[in-house]
Amino acid sequence: MPREFSSLRQLDTPVKVLFTGYLTTVAVGYLFALIQILFTHGMADGEFGLSIDDIVYSYYGNRSGTVMETQLNGSMKENAPEHDRFVIIQWVRDGADADDYVDSGAKKIIEDRCVMCHNKDSSLPDFTDIRVLQELSKQDEGATFSSLTRVSHIHLFGISFIFMFVGLIFSFAETSTVKYKSIAIGMPYVFLLVDILSWWLTKLHPMFAELVIFAGGGMAVAFAFMWSVSLLEMWAYDKVFLRPDGQPRRQLSAIVEGKFYEMGGGKLFGSLFAQVKKAACWFCQNLKQRWLPELKVQYQKWRSKDDA
Ligand code: HEC
Repeated sequence: MPREFSSLRQLDTPVKVLFTGYLTTVAVGYLFALIQILFTHGMADGEFGLSIDDIVYSYYGNRSGTVMETQLNGSMKENAPEHDRFVIIQWVRDGADADDYVDSGAKKIIEDRCVMCHNKDSSLPDFTDIRVLQELSKQDEGATFSSLTRVSHIHLFGISFIFMFVGLIFSFAETSTVKYKSIAIGMPYVFLLVDILSWWLTKLHPMFAELVIFAGGGMAVAFAFMWSVSLLEMWAYDKVFLRPDGQPRRQLSAIVEGKFYEMGGGKLFGSLFAQVKKAACWFCQNLKQRWLPELKVQYQKWRSKDDA
């Protein structure tokens, strides 16, 4: 079939340099985003590495504790030794009273260990003001409405733009079939929407935390696929996609599909389909029996809070 667009490998070198520059920069950006996730959300439960607990603490909150305590056992753990953290937590648990602030020893510790970062001149909560400390000593309800709204719109605008260009570049690829190309280009947008939605759902109920990881992972897979295929086609087409005799290698998807059927994939396909059907049933049943009722309860709680 004659192609009506110039494929990535046929582009002029300046355009290849432009695309490569963009892809490289975005990949470095992605890397920093991952590092940031590891150091903020990843530390939410006090242990390095991203877990379901981290997601729950970040969005739903640690409802049996306070922000102050969660942070002191989480990402702020390194900023004070065990004993000092204990003194602050004790003061928080005793109600964060202004009268006890000095006597309990909390004031001195916070001034020595925290105020260097948490002061008026920083964008962090200002710990020279005791009211700020008291606010953080109330029940930890996770991400606030305003912070979620802010992060949601920044992510939707920013990430959709990134995938606009990554997808546009990848659309000039010729080694993927139209089917897989369309899936790879569309997937990040679906996952982006699911990702943002799952933050809000997790704010309502911790059981949605897995959805956050699932959606984030899906976005990363699509990104890695488009990124590597685009770069390989631009710079290593002959080596990667052609056989030594100059004929094109079989497409990766064809190889994978072929292997799949060779290994008795037809039957596997049947049982896979059964699995998918089972998963769909599970999802529908949960939606009907657990998730929707829970959302209803949360919504009513929220409304009655507004009325009060
Ligand atoms: C080296 C600088 C630094 C020091 C020292 C520091 N913090 Fe933080 N703190 C931060 C940063 C940055 C954030 C925001 C990012 C995060 O949550 O990790 C933060 C966030 C927090 C939050 C969450 C605020 C919110 O609105 O969610 C609390 C609570 C907190 N710190 C408590 C403390 C306490 C208590 C100490 C002293 C024992 C302390 N911090 C010392 C840098 C610091």
